Amino acid sequence: MEVIHTISDMKRFVTDSQAAQKTIGFVPTMGYLHEGHVSLIDHAKEENDTVVVSVFVNPLQFNDPNDLDAYPKSTQRDTEICAARGVDVLFMPTVSDMYPKDMGMTMSLTKRMGVLCDRTRPGHFGGVLTVLTKLFHIIEPTQVYFGLKDAQQVAVVDLLIDNLNFPTILRPIPTVREPDGLAKSSRNVNLSEQERQEAPLIYRALSEAKVMMEQGERDQQVILSHVQSVIDQSHHAEIDYIELLSYPQLEALPTLKGQVILACAVKFERARLIDNVLVDL
Ligand code: PAJ
Repeated sequence: MEVIHTISDMKRFVTDSQAAQKTIGFVPTMGYLHEGHVSLIDHAKEENDTVVVSVFVNPLQFNDPNDLDAYPKSTQRDTEICAARGVDVLFMPTVSDMYPKDMGMTMSLTKRMGVLCDRTRPGHFGGVLTVLTKLFHIIEPTQVYFGLKDAQQVAVVDLLIDNLNFPTILRPIPTVREPDGLAKSSRNVNLSEQERQEAPLIYRALSEAKVMMEQGERDQQVILSHVQSVIDQSHHAEIDYIELLSYPQLEALPTLKGQVILACAVKFERARLIDNVLVDL
């Protein structure tokens, strides 16, 4: 496996791969890799000649500087994991290489915003769009892999690829979970022992609501209240939002029909966790 730190070296690798007519599967990450990331890597490995993983903690997408500082890092472990899964290139650019001092633009969306994480993390998705646009230009991937745990991010990337004509295929991958249902996340290490015991309530609440919808419940208040009442059994969880929207448009639904997303964000003392279920009605 090659570890590349500069944009120019990364571009050289891409030019060589293209000359050899090799497809590139790309998995963008912020590191501290776990089984969720590994699932994206394994899918990319299966479906492409070459796999590039990026590890870059993108300062532009953190609206809270404390959150950026608290973000866990483990370069050596990330390198070992990528090498063991057969990754061809681990791309770890520096902040100064990615964001020159004279950076003079921002990106924003007019759709799929104003809901879910955009309400509580304003500016976050603009930062995600900027870094992904740069990475897509540098790596020119044939296919890109994103986890459905971050379903709004998938919806935003879908719009980015479509609206800006990126010649890449979006591959959304199902959420990988702990045996008790908690979605794997780099942020789970910031849960206390007690909080970790309570956190599986989030997925239990969403799953029960999904069954209610599949069995015919269409009253959105009843569904949302059920999720709230289950999560409220936790003494430490503070609900940030629970929302029911169309997917991937992320619009309010006058009646529950088509593909819908039920998503929530829950705050514990040192970790904010998000999760969702998609339902076809
Ligand atoms: P990060 O949080 O490191 O996640 C990288 C990718 O792993 C994302 O596509 C995310 O949805 C996926 N992922 C995380 N947990 C998962 C799980 N339990 N199951 C399946 N996939 C999972 O998302 C980001 O980084 C950044 O916003 C990024 C796209 C890299 C841009 O900076």
